[in-house]
Amino acid sequence: MIEEYITDIDADEGNLLIFDKTGYKLSINIPDNITRENVYDIWFNLPCGIPVTHREVDTYSSELSEIKIKATDKCLEVGSGLAEWIPYILEKIEFDERPTVIELSDYKKMKNMLQYAINLRIDPKITPELESLVRRCDVYLDPEKVNLINFPFIDAIQNNPELVGKFDVVVDIMGADLYQNMSSYGFYVSGIEKRLLAPDGILISQDPHKTFRNIGNN
Ligand SMILES: C[S@@+](CC[C@H](N)C(=O)[O-])C[C@H]1O[C@@H](n2cnc3c(N)ncnc32)[C@H](O)[C@@H]1O
Repeated sequence: MIEEYITDIDADEGNLLIFDKTGYKLSINIPDNITRENVYDIWFNLPCGIPVTHREVDTYSSELSEIKIKATDKCLEVGSGLAEWIPYILEKIEFDERPTVIELSDYKKMKNMLQYAINLRIDPKITPELESLVRRCDVYLDPEKVNLINFPFIDAIQNNPELVGKFDVVVDIMGADLYQNMSSYGFYVSGIEKRLLAPDGILISQDPHKTFRNIGNN
Protein backbone atom coordinates (compact mmCIF):
# COMPACT_ATOMS: atom_id res chain seq x y z
CA MET A 1 0.00 0.00 0.00
CA ILE A 2 1.38 3.45 -0.89
CA GLU A 3 1.28 5.80 2.09
CA GLU A 4 -0.01 9.34 1.61
CA TYR A 5 1.95 12.18 3.09
CA ILE A 6 1.51 15.94 3.19
CA THR A 7 4.58 18.09 2.72
CA ASP A 8 4.94 21.69 3.82
CA ILE A 9 7.64 24.28 4.43
CA ASP A 10 8.17 25.94 7.79
CA ALA A 11 9.28 29.32 6.42
CA ASP A 12 10.41 30.65 9.83
CA GLU A 13 12.79 27.81 10.51
CA GLY A 14 13.54 26.81 6.91
CA ASN A 15 12.47 23.21 7.52
CA LEU A 16 10.79 20.85 5.12
CA LEU A 17 7.93 19.14 6.95
CA ILE A 18 6.40 15.78 6.07
CA PHE A 19 3.23 14.68 7.87
CA ASP A 20 1.52 11.33 7.81
CA LYS A 21 -2.20 10.82 8.43
CA THR A 22 -1.67 9.76 12.04
CA GLY A 23 0.12 12.95 13.03
CA TYR A 24 3.75 11.84 12.74
CA LYS A 25 5.82 14.81 11.57
CA LEU A 26 9.27 14.59 10.00
CA SER A 27 11.24 17.84 9.97
CA ILE A 28 14.29 18.25 7.77
CA ASN A 29 16.50 21.27 7.99
CA ILE A 30 19.07 21.52 5.26
CA PRO A 31 22.20 23.16 6.60
CA ASP A 32 24.93 24.42 4.28
CA ASN A 33 27.38 21.99 5.81
CA ILE A 34 26.31 18.97 7.77
CA THR A 35 28.59 18.64 10.76
CA ARG A 36 28.56 16.31 13.75
CA GLU A 37 27.10 19.17 15.83
CA ASN A 38 24.01 19.34 13.66
CA VAL A 39 22.44 16.23 15.15
CA TYR A 40 18.97 17.76 15.22
CA ASP A 41 18.79 18.51 11.48
CA ILE A 42 16.41 15.60 10.95
CA TRP A 43 13.88 14.70 13.61
CA PHE A 44 10.36 13.44 14.11
CA ASN A 45 7.59 14.67 16.35
CA LEU A 46 5.07 12.12 17.55
CA PRO A 47 1.34 13.00 17.60
CA CYS A 48 1.75 13.61 21.36
CA GLY A 49 4.44 16.20 20.59
CA ILE A 50 7.44 14.20 21.88
CA PRO A 51 10.47 14.59 19.58
CA VAL A 52 12.34 11.56 18.25
CA THR A 53 15.98 12.45 17.65
CA HIS A 54 19.07 10.60 16.44
CA ARG A 55 22.03 11.27 18.73
CA GLU A 56 25.35 9.93 17.43
CA VAL A 57 27.55 8.02 19.88
CA ASP A 58 30.30 10.63 19.81
CA THR A 59 27.86 13.18 21.23
CA TYR A 60 26.85 11.05 24.25
CA SER A 61 28.20 11.93 27.67
CA SER A 62 31.57 10.40 28.53
CA GLU A 63 29.73 8.35 31.19
CA LEU A 64 28.41 6.10 28.45
CA SER A 65 31.51 5.86 26.28
CA GLU A 66 33.57 4.89 29.34
CA ILE A 67 31.55 1.74 30.01
CA LYS A 68 33.28 -1.33 28.61
CA ILE A 69 30.43 -3.47 27.35
CA LYS A 70 30.97 -7.23 27.12
CA ALA A 71 29.26 -9.89 25.02
CA THR A 72 27.73 -11.33 28.19
CA ASP A 73 26.16 -8.00 29.24
CA LYS A 74 22.41 -7.64 29.11
CA CYS A 75 21.75 -4.15 27.75
CA LEU A 76 18.59 -2.04 27.67
CA GLU A 77 17.98 1.34 26.09
CA VAL A 78 14.83 3.25 27.02
CA GLY A 79 13.64 5.87 24.53
CA SER A 80 16.34 5.15 21.98
CA GLY A 81 14.55 6.95 19.17
CA LEU A 82 16.79 6.93 16.10
CA ALA A 83 19.99 7.10 18.14
CA GLU A 84 23.18 5.31 17.23
CA TRP A 85 24.11 3.54 20.48
CA ILE A 86 22.25 0.25 19.91
CA PRO A 87 23.30 -0.10 16.21
CA TYR A 88 26.84 0.88 17.25
CA ILE A 89 27.26 -1.71 20.02
CA LEU A 90 25.66 -4.36 17.81
CA GLU A 91 28.32 -3.72 15.17
CA LYS A 92 31.12 -4.02 17.70
CA ILE A 93 29.92 -6.92 19.87
CA GLU A 94 28.33 -10.28 19.24
CA PHE A 95 26.05 -10.45 22.26
CA ASP A 96 25.01 -13.66 23.98
CA GLU A 97 21.56 -12.08 24.33
CA ARG A 98 20.22 -9.40 21.98
CA PRO A 99 19.84 -5.95 23.57
CA THR A 100 16.36 -4.80 24.60
CA VAL A 101 14.83 -1.48 23.50
CA ILE A 102 11.76 0.11 25.04
CA GLU A 103 10.47 2.77 22.67
CA LEU A 104 6.98 4.11 22.08
CA SER A 105 7.43 5.36 18.51
CA ASP A 106 6.71 3.30 15.40
CA TYR A 107 9.97 2.49 13.57
CA LYS A 108 8.15 1.09 10.53
CA LYS A 109 6.24 4.33 10.12
CA MET A 110 9.38 6.44 10.56
CA LYS A 111 11.31 4.26 8.11
CA ASN A 112 8.60 4.75 5.45
CA MET A 113 8.61 8.52 5.97
CA LEU A 114 12.41 8.66 5.73
CA GLN A 115 12.25 6.59 2.55
CA TYR A 116 9.67 9.00 1.15
CA ALA A 117 11.98 11.92 2.00
CA ILE A 118 14.88 10.19 0.21
CA ASN A 119 12.73 9.79 -2.89
CA LEU A 120 11.96 13.53 -2.88
CA ARG A 121 15.69 14.10 -3.65
CA ILE A 122 15.68 17.19 -1.46
CA ASP A 123 19.42 17.80 -1.38
CA PRO A 124 22.33 15.43 -2.00
CA LYS A 125 23.90 16.57 1.28
CA ILE A 126 20.99 15.26 3.33
CA THR A 127 20.47 11.92 1.53
CA PRO A 128 23.27 9.99 3.30
CA GLU A 129 21.89 11.13 6.68
CA LEU A 130 18.39 9.95 5.74
CA GLU A 131 19.78 6.63 4.48
CA SER A 132 21.73 6.15 7.69
CA LEU A 133 18.51 6.65 9.72
CA VAL A 134 16.69 4.11 7.52
CA ARG A 135 19.47 1.61 8.33
CA ARG A 136 19.01 2.34 12.04
CA CYS A 137 15.26 1.68 11.74
CA ASP A 138 16.13 -1.64 10.10
CA VAL A 139 18.32 -2.56 13.07
CA TYR A 140 15.65 -1.64 15.63
CA LEU A 141 13.06 -3.59 13.62
CA ASP A 142 15.20 -6.72 13.25
CA PRO A 143 14.02 -9.24 15.89
CA GLU A 144 17.24 -11.21 15.48
CA LYS A 145 19.24 -8.20 16.60
CA VAL A 146 16.96 -6.33 19.00
CA ASN A 147 14.25 -7.28 21.46
CA LEU A 148 12.01 -4.29 20.68
CA ILE A 149 9.28 -3.61 23.21
CA ASN A 150 7.19 -1.09 21.35
CA PHE A 151 5.26 0.38 24.28
CA PRO A 152 5.51 3.36 26.62
CA PHE A 153 7.96 2.60 29.42
CA ILE A 154 5.53 2.02 32.29
CA ASP A 155 3.29 -0.27 30.18
CA ALA A 156 6.37 -2.14 28.97
CA ILE A 157 7.46 -2.88 32.55
CA GLN A 158 3.96 -3.86 33.65
CA ASN A 159 3.63 -6.25 30.69
CA ASN A 160 7.14 -7.71 31.09
CA PRO A 161 7.87 -8.17 34.81
CA GLU A 162 10.80 -10.45 33.93
CA LEU A 163 12.75 -7.29 33.03
CA VAL A 164 13.09 -6.35 36.72
CA GLY A 165 16.60 -7.01 38.07
CA LYS A 166 17.84 -8.26 34.69
CA PHE A 167 20.15 -5.68 33.08
CA ASP A 168 23.88 -5.00 33.39
CA VAL A 169 23.53 -1.72 31.50
CA VAL A 170 20.46 0.51 31.25
CA VAL A 171 20.70 3.68 29.15
CA ASP A 172 18.18 6.50 28.95
CA ILE A 173 19.41 9.53 27.00
CA MET A 174 16.70 12.21 26.87
CA GLY A 175 14.17 9.36 26.76
CA ALA A 176 11.34 8.28 29.05
CA ASP A 177 13.04 9.76 32.12
CA LEU A 178 12.89 13.22 30.53
CA TYR A 179 9.44 12.99 28.93
CA GLN A 180 7.43 10.71 31.17
CA ASN A 181 8.48 11.63 34.68
CA MET A 182 5.50 10.98 36.84
CA SER A 183 6.28 12.88 39.98
CA SER A 184 2.59 13.66 40.33
CA TYR A 185 1.98 9.90 40.62
CA GLY A 186 4.63 9.65 43.32
CA PHE A 187 7.42 8.04 41.33
CA TYR A 188 10.11 8.92 38.84
CA VAL A 189 10.95 6.88 35.76
CA SER A 190 14.63 6.74 36.76
CA GLY A 191 13.58 5.09 40.04
CA ILE A 192 11.87 2.31 38.08
CA GLU A 193 14.81 2.08 35.68
CA LYS A 194 17.07 1.38 38.69
CA ARG A 195 14.85 -1.57 39.56
CA LEU A 196 15.65 -3.11 36.17
CA LEU A 197 19.35 -3.36 37.08
CA ALA A 198 21.09 -6.60 38.00
CA PRO A 199 22.95 -6.29 41.35
CA ASP A 200 26.07 -4.62 39.83
CA GLY A 201 24.25 -3.12 36.86
CA ILE A 202 24.84 0.45 35.69
CA LEU A 203 22.19 3.01 34.79
CA ILE A 204 23.29 5.93 32.62
CA SER A 205 20.63 8.60 32.46
CA GLN A 206 21.12 11.89 30.67
CA ASP A 207 18.88 14.89 30.11
CA PRO A 208 19.64 18.57 29.52
CA HIS A 209 19.78 19.19 33.29
CA LYS A 210 21.71 16.23 34.58
CA THR A 211 23.73 13.15 33.78
CA PHE A 212 23.93 10.46 36.37
CA ARG A 213 25.39 7.04 36.72
CA ASN A 214 23.85 4.66 39.20
CA ILE A 215 25.46 1.38 40.12
CA GLY A 216 23.33 -1.39 41.58
CA ASN A 217 19.60 -1.53 42.00
CA ASN A 218 19.27 0.02 45.45
C1 LIG B 1 14.41 13.37 22.43
S1 LIG B 1 14.24 11.70 21.88
C2 LIG B 1 15.78 11.01 22.37
C3 LIG B 1 16.16 9.88 21.48
C4 LIG B 1 17.60 9.37 21.68
N1 LIG B 1 17.74 8.77 22.99
C5 LIG B 1 18.58 10.50 21.48
O1 LIG B 1 19.30 10.81 22.43
O2 LIG B 1 18.63 11.06 20.39
C6 LIG B 1 13.12 10.99 23.08
C7 LIG B 1 12.79 9.56 22.80
O3 LIG B 1 12.20 8.98 23.95
C8 LIG B 1 11.06 8.24 23.56
N2 LIG B 1 10.16 8.20 24.71
C9 LIG B 1 9.68 9.25 25.40
N3 LIG B 1 8.90 8.83 26.40
C10 LIG B 1 8.89 7.48 26.34
C11 LIG B 1 8.26 6.46 27.11
N4 LIG B 1 7.49 6.75 28.14
N5 LIG B 1 8.45 5.18 26.77
C12 LIG B 1 9.24 4.86 25.71
N6 LIG B 1 9.86 5.78 24.95
C13 LIG B 1 9.69 7.07 25.26
C14 LIG B 1 10.50 9.02 22.38
O4 LIG B 1 9.64 8.25 21.58
C15 LIG B 1 11.79 9.42 21.67
O5 LIG B 1 12.23 8.43 20.78
